[in-house]
Parts: sequence; structure tokens; C-alpha cells
Amino acid sequence: MIEASKDSDASSRLTCGMVGGGAGAFIGDVHRKALAFDAKATLVAGSFSRDPSKSLATGRSLGLSADRLYGGYAEMAASEARRDDKIDFVVIVTPNNLHFPVAKVFLENGINVVCDKPLVLTSKQAEELKALAAAKNLLFCVTYTYTGYPMVKQARAMVRNGDIGEIRFVTAEYAQDWLATALETTGQKQAAWRTDPEQTGIANSVGDIGTHAENIVSYITGLSIASLCARLDTFVKGRRLDDNATVMVNYASGAKGLYWVSQIAIGNDNDLRVRVFGSKGAIEWAQQDPNYLKVSYLDKPVEQLSRGRDRLYPDAAGTSRIPGGHPEGYFEAFSNVYRSFCDALAKKRAGQPLGPEERDFPGLDAGASGVKFIEKCVESSRKGGTWVGVD
Ligand SMILES: NC(=O)c1ccc[n+]([C@@H]2O[C@H](COP(=O)([O-])OP(=O)(O)OC[C@H]3O[C@@H](n4cnc5c(N)ncnc54)[C@H](O)[C@@H]3O)[C@@H](O)[C@H]2O)c1
Repeated sequence: MIEASKDSDASSRLTCGMVGGGAGAFIGDVHRKALAFDAKATLVAGSFSRDPSKSLATGRSLGLSADRLYGGYAEMAASEARRDDKIDFVVIVTPNNLHFPVAKVFLENGINVVCDKPLVLTSKQAEELKALAAAKNLLFCVTYTYTGYPMVKQARAMVRNGDIGEIRFVTAEYAQDWLATALETTGQKQAAWRTDPEQTGIANSVGDIGTHAENIVSYITGLSIASLCARLDTFVKGRRLDDNATVMVNYASGAKGLYWVSQIAIGNDNDLRVRVFGSKGAIEWAQQDPNYLKVSYLDKPVEQLSRGRDRLYPDAAGTSRIPGGHPEGYFEAFSNVYRSFCDALAKKRAGQPLGPEERDFPGLDAGASGVKFIEKCVESSRKGGTWVGVD
């Protein structure tokens, strides 16, 4: 007989529930698959749709027990909180407008939260969640997926170690073309809610992908935005929110930046690309070729670091899962965010203190910063593209 080690004991695993992610949804299913990579948490409960019968059908298809399938998220939070085996955390994968009420009710019921981006619709809501999570001593993760890529972690470690010197200029592009036509009028539900201010918030492209650009720059460089100047465009007739935006940025350090995000950039699937120019060198990472990092110095040939092959900093090497040349991608990046979060939560559950290095997952500060970025971009654009301070 093989004796189970304590680590592999299923009873020591975390459990979670999910709000959103019903049949036909995009990101809920990605979260479930990413969670399965390391099996550090098991999905046991859910309210997967605003329609209870659809929620039930999704829960059954996932093999969950009927007594943990709920008709609504508030009922789920209250019922789970009463159980001895209550979920350790909830995963929120609904349209943006529900992030705040759902996160709030779970925090109030003493349950840790993983929430997709953008965190909430207003800075006031973000501050309320920060205060609530702190008062209840709960962990909160905002799933900015791109922070989970090993080569993004390598870029961050190189900047931290001064390999490219003092940062002078940053560019971030996030180009897509899926909203180049009025897809929202065809019944495509992801397009419909993203272009509806009631469900998505005050911005579309800036909220949906601009926050990823803001977050990945902040994660890699540690720079904080002091002021920005934005122009939000709406190219598709009848659309109520932006589908393209250009943002100039001044960082507190004196460095400068330029972000371009677009959903009408024909020929682009999901082209997130970041370039960081320092006084000694430069680095470039592209989401569609995520296993490599381009590194340039003035006096050397251009280098291309390969995940899983070249000697990388420990953060990057430790999150690489298979040898180089076997491409890793979006699922692995997502699972790395979950691995960091679950390890931190397991440690906290065991009553052990958490050091800052054990919190390598985006939290409420990152989420709040994304919300502030959206608000300031909209404010600047509405004022005709003037510079606005970001406090
Ligand atoms: N991290 C990333 O890279 C990434 C990628 C895509 C989407 N997202 C974010 O994930 C969230 C969901 O996006 P999506 O594209 O998966 O949307 P989606 O429309 O595909 O899915 C939303 C799901 O929420 C469910 N829902 C709606 N109201 C509900 C309620 N009251 N109770 C329970 N479930 C409810 C819907 O039925 C649906 O199943 C958004 O906030 C989006 O910004 C993040």
C-alpha cells in the first residue's frame, strides 16, 4: 500500500466556491482549469448564473453536491459561512458591476476572496473593500493574469536588480480587434456587457484591457503614476463607450510612459506588449510569444532569454513548469497566480505569519490602483485630453 504524505492529503486542501462562470462564460472555466493545475484548492460550491436553473445545471455538470449549489450569491455567502466546512475562498467571475456587492457580502461573512479585474467600478468601492478585508483579516487576490508569466517575473527581477539601470521610458500596448464591428448588437454576451456602462463601468477598452496594461507595467517596474493625459476614442457607430485609447504617463520617479489599448486594431488577437527602456538596457515582452524575453544592451548583441532554458532569476525559474521549447501560456500563468494565493492562504489558515515575498499575487492595492487609472483616464479625456494628477 502506498502511504499518503501529509502534503497530498486531500482533506488538507483548500476549498472554494465560484460566483459566475456558468455555461458559455469565458473566464470562469479558465479559473477552474487553472485551479486544477496544482490541486491546491477544490471547487465545492457555486452560484454560477443569475438564473438559478442554469446555475444548478452548471454545478451538476461539475459534479458538485446539490446542497452547495445556490440560487443567489448572497444566500451562498450566508449559507457557506454557517457551515463547519465552509469554503476557504470565493472566486468572483461575473461582469464588473457585480464584483463589489459580491466581494462585500463574502468578506462580511468572513470568507477570503479572489476577484477578477477590474476590481470594482469606483475608487470609493475599492477603499471600502480594502477597509473591510483589513478589519476581517482576510486575503484578497485580483486576478491580473499576466503577472503569473515566468518571463514577466524575470523582467521584474531584472528591473529590481538594476540590470537595465534607471528606467527612463515605458511603452505598453494592448491591441485586439474583436470589437472592430458592433458585435454587441448581435447577441454576443461578452461584447454586450462590456459595452454597457451599467455593467462594465465608465470605460470599456480602458477598463477591460487598459487596466491590464497599467498593472503589468506597475508589476514589472514598480513605478507609480503621478499624472496622465488620456484620449479615449469610440470608433464604432452607436457604441456608448471607448473602444480605443491613448494615454501618456508621468511616473513619480520622473520616468515617462505611453500606453495604447485598442479593440478595433484589425489583425490583432490579444497583443499585449511591454517595453521598458533603462539607462543601461531595455527589455521587451509580448503576451503572444510569452516564453521569451528580449533583452538589449548598447554594447552587446540582442539577447533572447528562453523560459525553461536560460539561467533565470529564482522567481521566474520557480514558476516555470516544463523544459524550454514546450510552450507554456495563459493557463499556466493563471495557475501561478492561484499557486501563490493558495500557498499564502494555507499558511494563514495554519496560523503562520505571511512575509511580503509570500504574497506574490495581485491584491487590493493593485486592484484599487487599476480603478483609479480608469477614473483618471476618463476624467482627462472628458476634459479634452488635459493632464490630471493621480494621487
Ligand atoms: N483576468 C483576465 O485575463 C480576464 C479575462 C477575461 C475576463 N476577465 C474578467 O472576468 C469577468 C467575467 O468576464 P467573462 O468574459 O468571463 O464574462 P462572461 O459574460 O463570459 O461570464 C459572466 C458570468 O457571470 C454570470 N453572472 C451574471 N450575473 C450573475 C449573478 N448575479 N450571479 C451569478 N452569476 C452571474 C453569467 O451568467 C456568466 O456565466 C469580468 O470582470 C472580466 O473583466 C478577466
